[in-house]
Amino acid sequence: MADLCNQAAGSAAPETPAGILMLRTMSMPADANPNGDVFGGWIMSQMDAGGAMMAYEMCQGKVVTVAVDEIVFRNPVKVGDVVCVYARCVHIGNTSLKVRLQFWTKRGISARSTRVKVAESCFTYVAVDDAGKKRPLPLSLTEHREEILRLGYSADLL
Ligand SMILES: CC(C)(COP(=O)(O)OP(=O)(O)OC[C@H]1O[C@@H](n2cnc3c(N)ncnc32)[C@H](O)[C@@H]1OP(=O)(O)O)[C@@H](O)C(=O)NCCC(=O)NCCS
Repeated sequence: MADLCNQAAGSAAPETPAGILMLRTMSMPADANPNGDVFGGWIMSQMDAGGAMMAYEMCQGKVVTVAVDEIVFRNPVKVGDVVCVYARCVHIGNTSLKVRLQFWTKRGISARSTRVKVAESCFTYVAVDDAGKKRPLPLSLTEHREEILRLGYSADLL
């Protein structure tokens, strides 16, 4: 199967968030870098948390982050922005799964404020047992692999 992380964007239509909304919060002064904008590490940690929440549900237990694909920050995030993390599962392996994550920001408190995509990347999570060793993904996940990948996520199939 083609790796959806490497799919080129082929449309001229304005981009909208792709995936399920996993996390929505507001950036705070404590999240700023010395320039006053939001620190990239905070953005990455929000993406990781959003992806981990999806991975926990899909793996029905503990997961760890094993790898993160390249991340490019296309737009700055300002303190006080409302930020969202969207997630979509793009690969289901034997003990791991890959989640494509998008980080979007909305500047200002108006309902009409424009959303801007800040970053996108794929995070890989490995299901682990209580000792931290990798474990096979649940059968429900591997048996419904194709359908779950088509939908990006499905609570009903887990
Ligand atoms: C994740 C961990 C349990 C893997 O243990 P391991 O026995 O070495 O596992 P393997 O090398 O066989 O890899 C396990 C799975 O991860 C995948 N994987 C490993 N390295 C990867 C990488 N660089 N990129 C993508 N996938 C990777 C493998 O392809 C395999 O997937 P599959 O079973 O679905 O085919 C172990 O490396 C670990 O504990 N890492 C630390 C995790 C951590 O602390 N993260 C930060 C905080 S959450």
